[in-house]
Amino acid sequence: MSHIKIPNTKYNVNSLFVDRWSPRAFSEKSISTEDLMSMFEAASWAASAMNDQPWRYIAAQKENTESFNQLVDCLNPANQIWAKNAAVLIISGMSTIYSSNQKPNGGAMHDLGLANQNLILQAQSKNIYSHIMGGFDKEKATSLFNSDGTIVAHCMIALSYLGDPELLDETLKQRELTGRSRRPIEDFVTML
Ligand SMILES: Cc1cc2nc3c(=O)[nH]c(=O)nc-3n(C[C@H](O)[C@H](O)[C@H](O)COP(=O)(O)O)c2cc1C
Repeated sequence: MSHIKIPNTKYNVNSLFVDRWSPRAFSEKSISTEDLMSMFEAASWAASAMNDQPWRYIAAQKENTESFNQLVDCLNPANQIWAKNAAVLIISGMSTIYSSNQKPNGGAMHDLGLANQNLILQAQSKNIYSHIMGGFDKEKATSLFNSDGTIVAHCMIALSYLGDPELLDETLKQRELTGRSRRPIEDFVTML
């Protein structure tokens, strides 16, 4: 694909970090269960407070139409337009209490973020792209966890091989082709 958006970096970083970006044009190629499970395995090796591993996932491959559509249904219309073409959709949620003592886990969202990053970098290592989404119906997605209320959905993730941006409408296509930028390091690091 000609529109792989790899930025220039000032310092040398592992290519996995800069190869990853969030596309909306997806290929029709499916993601194997083996590859998908390798992503969840990568997620499971994230660090977490008290090794509680608060991350929880619900996933559906596009081939499982009924389950996949249940997840599409959770998304906001603006995300549905393109995310319905993903090969896999995931609800990423967390247990808000520690399993060892049932006390509130104030770091659950932090640990879920670590696990999600492991997941999407494992995907990227196989040229599978990810797009995290906060635009979805949290109540609907949370209800799919069938928990006693202690597991809550936090974001959704679309996974796919990269597709042709020409398949997108003009606005999304422009976004797909626009370069990426980041704040300079000095903006967020104080060296003492
Ligand atoms: C928590 C979170 C929520 C996001 N929600 C959405 C969303 O609802 N829709 C969308 O198109 N992108 C969403 N994004 C993607 C970001 O816009 C994207 O990661 C950011 O612009 C940086 O671009 P990059 O991932 O291509 O480097 C979300 C990302 C995160 C981490």
